[in-house]
Amino acid sequence: MSHNCKITKEDRYLLNGHRGCVLWLTGLSGAGKSTLAAELEAELYRRRVHAYVLDGDTIRSGLNNDLGFNPEDRRENIRRIGEVAKLFFDAGFFVLSALISPYRKDRRLARSLFQQGEFLEIYVKCAMAECERRDPKGLYKKARHGIIKNFTGISSPYEAPISPELIIETDQQPLQECVRQIISYLEDHGYFN
Ligand code: PPS
Repeated sequence: MSHNCKITKEDRYLLNGHRGCVLWLTGLSGAGKSTLAAELEAELYRRRVHAYVLDGDTIRSGLNNDLGFNPEDRRENIRRIGEVAKLFFDAGFFVLSALISPYRKDRRLARSLFQQGEFLEIYVKCAMAECERRDPKGLYKKARHGIIKNFTGISSPYEAPISPELIIETDQQPLQECVRQIISYLEDHGYFN
């Protein structure tokens, strides 16, 4: 923190009744990142935990509306959102970021902004065929027809996490079970009571 803060992160934790952390949800388009983040945010709210979702689509319509989907722009997207996540984290929030973040080195860069235990990489895993079957925004169809270029999983790579803190398989279980697994992890590791 560069400016002269009189209130420390620990003070904010005391006020909130819990520490902050970053849950970095990564996965293919249609894997369920945004749905899971929204449901998780609601569950955390019920538990009086201060949480906030940073969603790719939302941030790309404002702060990052100058960025596209080539590797350099995706890197800058992740870098900026990593910095925003750090601000929210310093304010004592649980940050739920829902970004494809397809490149390992970009996710590593985001992680490097945090100390051990502050950043949890959550692989929102779903078979590509299932993502394409769901196709909630019709983007896979457009990508198959070449209308959308650089589409993750079709014409642009997705590098699956090698050792994420958690893997949540959205094509193997219902949404509520996915949420329960994440909440259990947070409870078991002392992120809140
Ligand atoms: S990234 O890779 O992390 O920078 O992407 P992100 O900021 O999460 O934005 C992903 C959403 O953008 C829409 N979209 C595309 N996704 C992937 N590839 C291409 N070419 C593309 N064009 C538009 C799409 O709605 C993504 O949202 P989700 O929720 O993942 O489907």
